[in-house]
Amino acid sequence: MSNEKQNEKKEIGKDCYINRNCWLVNNLNSLPYKRCQYCELKFRKCLFLQYQVISIVLLSFSFILFYIIDRSISVSAIIIIFTLVIVYGYFFNNSTEKIIKSNFFEKKAKKSLKELSDNLEERVKEQTKDIQKKANRMMRLLKMRSEFLDIASHQLRTPTSVIKGTLAMLKEGDLENMSLAERAKFIDGMYKKSIKLEEIINNILMASEMDTDGDKAMALNDRIDLTELADKIIAQHSLDAQNKKLHLVWQKPDEPMILQGSLRYIEEAINNLLDNAIKYTNKGSVTTTLVKNKRKALLTIQDTGIGIPKEDQNKVFKKFIRAKNARNAYTDGSGLGLFIVKEIIYKHPGAKIRMESKENKGTKFNLEFILLDNIK
Ligand SMILES: Nc1ncnc2c1ncn2[C@@H]1O[C@H](COP(=O)(O)OP(=O)(O)O)[C@@H](O)[C@H]1O
Ligand SMILES: [Mg+2]
Repeated sequence: MSNEKQNEKKEIGKDCYINRNCWLVNNLNSLPYKRCQYCELKFRKCLFLQYQVISIVLLSFSFILFYIIDRSISVSAIIIIFTLVIVYGYFFNNSTEKIIKSNFFEKKAKKSLKELSDNLEERVKEQTKDIQKKANRMMRLLKMRSEFLDIASHQLRTPTSVIKGTLAMLKEGDLENMSLAERAKFIDGMYKKSIKLEEIINNILMASEMDTDGDKAMALNDRIDLTELADKIIAQHSLDAQNKKLHLVWQKPDEPMILQGSLRYIEEAINNLLDNAIKYTNKGSVTTTLVKNKRKALLTIQDTGIGIPKEDQNKVFKKFIRAKNARNAYTDGSGLGLFIVKEIIYKHPGAKIRMESKENKGTKFNLEFILLDNIK
């Protein structure tokens, strides 16, 4: 309350306003005249003081004039002089009132103009920021659109044309002239391409989900047993590894490892890493280990595959990036898998992902998760 009152005292034009520039207020501790409540002029320019000085000069001048003319100052002369000074004072008072008021209004107008310009500047700044944000979002969406068109034309076209070609052969009756084994090969090829197609579409959808509202979509409230989950995913990949004659090793821990997160997304992340390990390994092994380190679980997927060239190692976690050796060896692939894995891991508090790779030697991915305390 006292603050409000003090602020009010500072406001020019308010009744309780005291002009601290006023000589009378400061030196004689005298309350200012009504007009001095508004007057914001410095002492040197004080109109009241000017009136006093001019009056004294006028009085002295008149007295001297009368004395020179009459050699004495009569009572009537004194009355005339004082009447003149009072009349002059009356008109002076009226005109100074106007000057002070206009001075006060000018000050007020200046103050509001400054406030307005300050506010305007702030609002313009805010709106510029807002526009910049929207423009950035638009740019991101445009970039996403062109990336999508890129990937769609490159990646979706191959499986679609294989499926279309096989179906055309079926329609024309060409498949009927083939041996059973040849026919089975074509149909199997079509089936595999349709799976690829589904995988690419799923990856595109998931990556765009991560880009737009990944945080909202990813509820981290599942209780996940990492041992059990890894066990399930590795079992699902055993046939792929067998087909490539790879040694699929699983160093399973004999205890559960419980963490909190999104089961669906963690499963997707491990799935992608294991998929890559098998896809990019032609001979040797893919080894998964899971160990507990204090409050952390460390999951490692290591392969003896083609590896990632040094110059591509920083880029492969970005969207649509595929290393040169991978592109040459396997035309299929969206380059979205590792981007999705990274996004999923970083949306889990405390979780980390690390990668080590050597071209033609192999690749190792480490995932680190914070475990729940109350493991039972
Ligand atoms: N285990 C791995 N071994 C060798 N290269 C890998 C491995 N995992 C990922 N990569 C490289 O990282 C790139 C990006 O991986 P990913 O995002 O899964 O895309 P995609 O598998 O569709 O090409 C791959 O194209 C490949 O160059
Ligand atoms: Mg992949």
